[in-house]
Amino acid sequence: MSTFLAYRLHADGGGAPGARFVELRVDDLSPGDVLIRVAYSSLNYKDALAAAGRNAIVRTYPRIGGIDLAGHVAASRDARLREGDAVVVHGFGIGVDHDGGHAQYARVPGGWVMPLPAGLSLLEASALGAAGYTAGLCLHWMEHNGLAPDAGKVVVSGATGGVGSIAVDMLASRGYAVAALTGKPDAHAYLRGLGASDILADDVALAPGKPLERGAWAGAVDAVGGAVLAWMLRTMQPDGVATSFGNAGGAAFDGNVLPFILRGVRLIGINANSPMALREHVWAKIAGPYRPRRLEAIASVIAFDALPGAMARMLARTSRGRYVVRMPD
Ligand SMILES: NC(=O)c1ccc[n+]([C@@H]2O[C@H](COP(=O)([O-])OP(=O)(O)OC[C@H]3O[C@@H](n4cnc5c(N)ncnc54)[C@H](OP(=O)(O)O)[C@@H]3O)[C@@H](O)[C@H]2O)c1
Repeated sequence: MSTFLAYRLHADGGGAPGARFVELRVDDLSPGDVLIRVAYSSLNYKDALAAAGRNAIVRTYPRIGGIDLAGHVAASRDARLREGDAVVVHGFGIGVDHDGGHAQYARVPGGWVMPLPAGLSLLEASALGAAGYTAGLCLHWMEHNGLAPDAGKVVVSGATGGVGSIAVDMLASRGYAVAALTGKPDAHAYLRGLGASDILADDVALAPGKPLERGAWAGAVDAVGGAVLAWMLRTMQPDGVATSFGNAGGAAFDGNVLPFILRGVRLIGINANSPMALREHVWAKIAGPYRPRRLEAIASVIAFDALPGAMARMLARTSRGRYVVRMPD
């Protein structure tokens, strides 16, 4: 290969960042001892924000976006990885401060590379991607803190989003009763199809409330933050376990300690940029007991040149589920 295609973010002349397709050579990529031929990448909210130059996600340009990828090793100086191995990479700063998955090739340190989890295809691993890992990590830590299907319902916010859709499917497939909170009135059939038993319009969470309200949730998976997280906490049932990983609706939230000190509610912060041992443990669960059953309904496979349009839909909150980017051969 002499050159290959990448969707790269630029801040030309120090101006507002933008993104465009460019032809690159391997030497243009961030350094690393493993070169990967990317088969699939995906689109996560952070990628769309980065490409739009929002939230100061990318600070050094030019940068290839894409916080996850799946593909085959093309060359390796890491003894654990051989040419042809099927691998997955997410986090560790790819797509942010190291060139990421939105290109036909990526080059990364060997310690960031995870063998494709047994039982998953490259396409399934990308349909899950950083979003599926985040949903799996929420379930892992909630169950570690005592959540079980007979404890009560689990509420999922941002339910039509990438993490939210997989969380609804994953939880329902594991036997949980799932309440999906969404701002999309036309998405109820989609969410029921993923296994949600209750659908709530997000107005319910955005209205002001009392410091404690009727306890309704044994578990909570929050993509939105802000007022939605505050509502979740005041409506958790005793010993409920809530997980917070997103700020699609805002970072700051107003809350009080009563859910914690009167109900023993636990709030667990989720950072998907985990150490490798935790990744391998949780991915094995995602490929096994946590396996979602409706990934085909969640993931749309798009061509590489469709990426900018998908990013615009994601930022306009008109997308749903996951976009998987199939790299050209
Ligand atoms: N901590 C971590 O390691 C980690 C890992 C992965 C993702 N995240 C974060 O988690 C959040 C969700 O990520 P994602 O990839 O699932 O994103 P996504 O596919 O864009 O989904 C976000 C969903 O949030 C809901 N939402 C509520 N208020 C919104 C608003 N003001 N603007 C946009 N969406 C809004 C929407 O669902 P409804 O229309 O159904 O309400 C939307 O579909 C993002 O903040 C992302 O940065 C964090």
